[in-house]
Amino acid sequence: MPLTEPYLLTPGPLTTSLTVKQAMLRDWGSWDSDFNHLTADICRRLLQVAHGEDQFVCVPLQGSGTYAVEATLATLIPFTAKALVLMNGAYGQRMAKILQYLGRSFVTLDMGDYLPPPPDRVDALLAADPAITHVAVVHCETSSGILNPVEAIAQVVATHGRRLIIDAMSAFGALPTDLRELPCDALVASANKCFEGVPGFGFALIRREALVASAGNAHSLSLDLYDQWAAMERSGQWRFTPPTHVVAAFAQALTEHEAEGGAVGRLARYTANRDRLVAGMRAMGFHTLLADRWLSPIIVTFHSPADPRFDFAAFYRLIREQGFIIYPGKLTVVDSFRIGCIGQLFAAQMDGVLAAVRTALDALGIADGSPRPEDLNTAEF
Ligand SMILES: Cc1ncc(COP(=O)(O)O)c(C=O)c1O
Repeated sequence: MPLTEPYLLTPGPLTTSLTVKQAMLRDWGSWDSDFNHLTADICRRLLQVAHGEDQFVCVPLQGSGTYAVEATLATLIPFTAKALVLMNGAYGQRMAKILQYLGRSFVTLDMGDYLPPPPDRVDALLAADPAITHVAVVHCETSSGILNPVEAIAQVVATHGRRLIIDAMSAFGALPTDLRELPCDALVASANKCFEGVPGFGFALIRREALVASAGNAHSLSLDLYDQWAAMERSGQWRFTPPTHVVAAFAQALTEHEAEGGAVGRLARYTANRDRLVAGMRAMGFHTLLADRWLSPIIVTFHSPADPRFDFAAFYRLIREQGFIIYPGKLTVVDSFRIGCIGQLFAAQMDGVLAAVRTALDALGIADGSPRPEDLNTAEF
């Protein structure tokens, strides 16, 4: 186990393969036809993964995932529109914050930390407010790991004739996504999640007709996805300096994604990782924040142990010393931490992190990971 380079059990940046890293060893001219072909190639392959070739276009954008989310909201939601943001964690909240910055009207449905937005509540909200034109939802809310019922929500939104934007950042590439059957205007993700590339750009798969109609909506030049797309259509080039090495690494990551059996193969590995992790953690007394039916194969939130000797910083350091990086919690109410299942992680790494957790508990003098009973959630949906 390479102790100099720990495994990242985090939801991106994540542990990438050696071959993805090696793909960054060449320099590319951003105007050169080789690089333009590379861009066109990754866009084509991304549309293929989502079965969106017929009606969608892929627009890549420099920056982290949030840039792509902000650009999509800014481009597709006109100043005259009104959005409904479904929130059950930090990334839903972030979309609301973005809309606030952008000066767009919006309302929210806030489900707290661990419950999904129920499709019937969305139905009632849309029925009650005809002014709502757009709905924004997170597929896998990475702050808890909850898997939101986007398919059912998409059907409700479509029935009301409203438009849906999906932040599928930590879902696309592993969770099934079929744009032929998922009524939405846009699906946003980034290079460094389930496709296992390195960070540096995000992308949106946008319904062509919605993107064409969005000319002039954006308040910002660099975040205008209509302009980014139109320029790429004209010249094959990114408007501004592209993250060339990251794009090259992503092309290699896509090849490895395909070799693993695409999203189906990746989902199978991530699910096996998650099941191994959850079983091992439960055997040590830990409890997951979420009921089994909402657990994603992406990242799992565990309650912090009740034992007063538990200190996350010390626990983290002890696990880090054994070659694994875990993630702090991101909940508003109870103490928690998270362990990711995505990236170049296999059974050996999941067993490794479980052994590291046991060693860390022993070092802290904690018998088991049981949480405070009053922290356990009992609400169900
Ligand atoms: C669901 C979701 N949305 C948005 C983001 C933001 O992406 P970034 O941190 O790359 O800006 C993340 C990051 O983990 C995410 O998981």
